[in-house]
Amino acid sequence: MNTNLSPRPTKIIDEEVKWDKSKIIISKTDLKGTILYMNDAFEEASEYNKVELIGEPHNIIRHPDMPKIVFKVLWNSLKKEENFNAIVKNLSRSGRYYWVITDFEIERDENGKAIGYTGRRKAIQNSIIDQIAPFYKTLLEIEQIKGEKASELYFEAFLKEEVKMNYDEFVVSLFEEESNKEKNAKSIKKGLNWFFFGD
Ligand SMILES: Cc1cc2nc3c(=O)[nH]c(=O)nc-3n(C[C@H](O)[C@H](O)[C@H](O)COP(=O)(O)O)c2cc1C
Repeated sequence: MNTNLSPRPTKIIDEEVKWDKSKIIISKTDLKGTILYMNDAFEEASEYNKVELIGEPHNIIRHPDMPKIVFKVLWNSLKKEENFNAIVKNLSRSGRYYWVITDFEIERDENGKAIGYTGRRKAIQNSIIDQIAPFYKTLLEIEQIKGEKASELYFEAFLKEEVKMNYDEFVVSLFEEESNKEKNAKSIKKGLNWFFFGD
């Protein structure tokens, strides 16, 4: 593939991308994370068009502020064929960022065999970013100074000692807490499917 068609940003700009936060950003990949499909909202937030991104690895929008352990846990879950939720800071083509909550789902063929993955993303409230960003910053600093293993151990210990949930549950709980506040304690079902697909 001609890499000029899908340029990676040369500089990081500490500024949020402007995008329509009422939209759901969707992408689909094969089992290796190669992008097979993206919707218009993905184009708007990432600032890439479909021709540039289809066929490229999904890490093209990986932001350097994201600690490796989050993606390690994501891929471990997907390989075990478990759906997963994550809060991710993404990198746009111009070097700007956009925060999202992502619901990862396994795509299966008619025999139930996993053939790929779908990611559906929503914007998150600043109050959620305020809670997760310091955790990611600490993880990244430990990763850079003490190495990946130390960062992984802190990730596990923090969740066990301070959150008392696994990462996926933590993400869902942060999201549901904020949605509850916004919806004035409307009854919330477990998981995020209600949010993306309605009742
Ligand atoms: C369906 C799907 C969607 C993904 N979406 C994102 C995303 O929005 N941002 C991101 O940084 N990584 C995303 N990833 C994870 C990337 O494939 C990759 O693991 C990550 O960017 C870290 O890069 P690395 O694995 O090269 O370290 C997604 C993976 C899948 C399977």
